[in-house]
Amino acid sequence: MRITIDTKAKKMSREEADERVELPLYSKEAFELLSQLWLKVGWNEKYPYTFSWLGRPIIQLPEDMIRTQEVLFRVKPDVIIETGVAHGGSLIYYASLCKVMERGRVIGIDIEIRPHNRQAIEAHELSRLITLIEGSSTAPEVVEEAHSLVRPGETVLIILDSNHTKQHVAAELEAYSDLVTPGSYIVATDGSMKDLYDVPRGRREVAARA
Ligand SMILES: C[S@@+](CC[C@H](N)C(=O)[O-])C[C@H]1O[C@@H](n2cnc3c(N)ncnc32)[C@H](O)[C@@H]1O
Repeated sequence: MRITIDTKAKKMSREEADERVELPLYSKEAFELLSQLWLKVGWNEKYPYTFSWLGRPIIQLPEDMIRTQEVLFRVKPDVIIETGVAHGGSLIYYASLCKVMERGRVIGIDIEIRPHNRQAIEAHELSRLITLIEGSSTAPEVVEEAHSLVRPGETVLIILDSNHTKQHVAAELEAYSDLVTPGSYIVATDGSMKDLYDVPRGRREVAARA
């Protein structure tokens, strides 16, 4: 695909195979095309790895964080379960929203919680709102432990951000969907993968959505 931007003429064009589409630069369609390209280049540059939240590195796009906040504020869950902890930034982010909303706690699951990450999460001022479970998110004992931490009648919201292969996400959806309460959500954070597998550092096996 060839994209041409003419800022003087305020036009943008997209050429693919025999087709050439011209768009006004200041339009929804042009913004979508630019955003898609921005996402691809940023992914290749590891842009989502450049942020932290209240002192912990977080591997997210700020746009996604704001959208997640909108959902959390609307649902106000009693329990947020996230698969994929990494450095703990996203757990601290959700915990900080729970603190402000005066509602909710967070359960984080990761196949490997490195000692320095565990130590930093457990030493954080928001740690009392966070429970860590170490193990594969689809291992029966881990799934059982997560279920055991949810009390009857609690509102639960689940965020899947661990291994993004189709097979693993499908298994996570199977393992945790029964916990999602009516009106709440299970969020598989894989929506952009279909656009990212073909960047230089992309991975074809995570392109297919579960
Ligand atoms: C993208 S990172 C998580 C980022 C984190 N949610 C954040 O926003 O900062 C993915 C994490 O998933 C973990 N992971 C990979 N396979 C897993 C599995 N089978 N079960 C649980 N966690 C897994 C990795 O160890 C890694 O820490």
